[in-house]
Amino acid sequence: MSDRSGQELYERIPVKVFDDAQAAVCEVAKEIAAAIRLRQNEDKPFVLGLATGSTPVPLYRELIRMHREEGLRFANVTTFNLDEYFGIDGRHPESYHRFMREQLFDHIDLPESQINIPQGAVARDEVFEACQAYEEKILACGGIDVQILGIGRTGHIGFNEPGSGPSSRTRLVTLDRLTRQDAARDFQGEHNVPRYAVTMGVETIMDARKVYLLAWGRSKAEVVKAAVEDAPVESLPASFLQEHLNVSFVLDTASASELIRYKCPWLVGFPEWTPELARESVTHLSLKLGKPLLKLVDKDYQENGLSELVTEKGPAYGLNIRVFNEVQHTITGWPGGKPDADDTYRPERALPARKRVLVLSPEPQDDVLSMAATLSRLVAHGHEVTVAYLTSGNLGVPDEEANWAADLMQEAGGASIASEVLDELDAKGAFSEDSEKLRRFKSYIRRNEARASLEMCSLPKGCIRFLDLPFYENGRYRRFETGESDVAATRTLLQEIRPHQVFVTGEAADPSSVQAKCFSVFEDAIRGLSVEPWIDDCYVWLYRSDGREWEIHQVEMSVPCSPDEVKAKAQAIYQHRSQRSQLPVMNPEQSEAWEQAIECNRETAALYDRLGLAEYEAIECFVRWKMPSKGIEK
Ligand code: GLP
Repeated sequence: MSDRSGQELYERIPVKVFDDAQAAVCEVAKEIAAAIRLRQNEDKPFVLGLATGSTPVPLYRELIRMHREEGLRFANVTTFNLDEYFGIDGRHPESYHRFMREQLFDHIDLPESQINIPQGAVARDEVFEACQAYEEKILACGGIDVQILGIGRTGHIGFNEPGSGPSSRTRLVTLDRLTRQDAARDFQGEHNVPRYAVTMGVETIMDARKVYLLAWGRSKAEVVKAAVEDAPVESLPASFLQEHLNVSFVLDTASASELIRYKCPWLVGFPEWTPELARESVTHLSLKLGKPLLKLVDKDYQENGLSELVTEKGPAYGLNIRVFNEVQHTITGWPGGKPDADDTYRPERALPARKRVLVLSPEPQDDVLSMAATLSRLVAHGHEVTVAYLTSGNLGVPDEEANWAADLMQEAGGASIASEVLDELDAKGAFSEDSEKLRRFKSYIRRNEARASLEMCSLPKGCIRFLDLPFYENGRYRRFETGESDVAATRTLLQEIRPHQVFVTGEAADPSSVQAKCFSVFEDAIRGLSVEPWIDDCYVWLYRSDGREWEIHQVEMSVPCSPDEVKAKAQAIYQHRSQRSQLPVMNPEQSEAWEQAIECNRETAALYDRLGLAEYEAIECFVRWKMPSKGIEK
């Protein structure tokens, strides 16, 4: 756990940051268990407020483990869940009733009669009364002792969406568009996601005697920062927790990464001025002031909290030039290395001139969204490129797309599979899960889209692999569990290709996401190969797959794209027909995946321009991941 002084100036909520979610939940589970046991010893009840979503899942696993291995009992515990979707009953696979049974209640000794979850299946004219009864029951039980919370990307707690006031109580609410988009994959399409939910109010949550808000992964970093560092506002209900007298935000390093203590450590203390930190602070200063790197002067440093830096590493002009050169050296049109060129300051080695390159894409489309132009260059420069899709991605195919494809097959006199698929789609209720056959059919759709997409990058079909990792085939979104067979399949591929370069993604993503799961599989696979002689000659490059780009100071290789390459990239992304309009929208003005991806690359190019480097049409970026020797170091 990290602890840096000075941060109290900016942080309005106590924050604990852990290396990863597992370390964090161990601590929280220990505290909850101690509180439960204390009450047990006094023969008193304990009231626990519970949350859903992927965030609390590792906490529930830890509590289950403590129940099994350490004798933690729940006989004196009464639980109240925060919320439930309205209009679905408890058997629905995405209902919070079912979720809680599967993730916790079925595995511990909590008496059924002590479980409380808001009802989603009541008639509309009975909701008000049901909500009041819920509040009364909480009171009758003596109030909530400990409340667990996650946080939505809108800043919601429970389902208190932006606009929820500090005195709101349990009620029916309308879900925000972003929340419904985030849930779209779980419900197999946004149109299946309920529009309403019943949720405890902000004040109901504030009444709890102790509150833990948990958050993992980079996608929560912005909202966590706003809740912790900005003034409380209705547009961000989690920020009201600043008024709570006993609240902790429990974070992993990725979700904490936007906090000032990590973003601008020089504002909260006296950091060690490593070259990396110097680069970060100088690029930050240049962008903040809107002044190119080479025009920064001592005064700019002094007036912006960077006097120590300029005293220690200055004068300003020398520092500017050093950072300018470092940033400049990240730019290369030769992502596989430039043969016959001095590679002292290039991100990649010149030799071997023809490299074996392995691009790992967690789901089809992650690859082209982030690196279509780089991929095309690698192929054009004669490298032996293999693209491997780690999962089939079939859960992301809407039924309408399967219908379209099966109709087409049938009309063309295709095989009987088409009519079987059409029959299943006809018979399927809105919420039933796909059969294995339908999932396989959907995988084929994604395979064909991936092939068409890579054709735009001139990659021959023979260089494409589909691993269909078992964890994905046997799982559901946000509840995947990886195993040895996933690692073994990935290890076999690595061993077969013995790549000089691997491009991979997902290292700081939300730990429940497909991308993060795939990265942990990759990590385990490559760790198992650490004695192989080819490993020392293998560079691992990380691309991002969350609709954002690396920050300038982090980037170690930036590949500029010409206007024509940008057009080709749009085409490559567009081939993923089943995914059109399916991505979480960062900017509501751009509803198509290709628009978002290209805008992101254009924005990166604009940043390089603002720093005073060359002005390109667009840029794709990468960070080098250092091969772990013992632990993982990055
Ligand atoms: C839903 C739940 C919230 C939860 C949020 C975040 O909206 N109602 O209680 O905090 O999702 O979900 P996740 O934890 O999967 O990121």
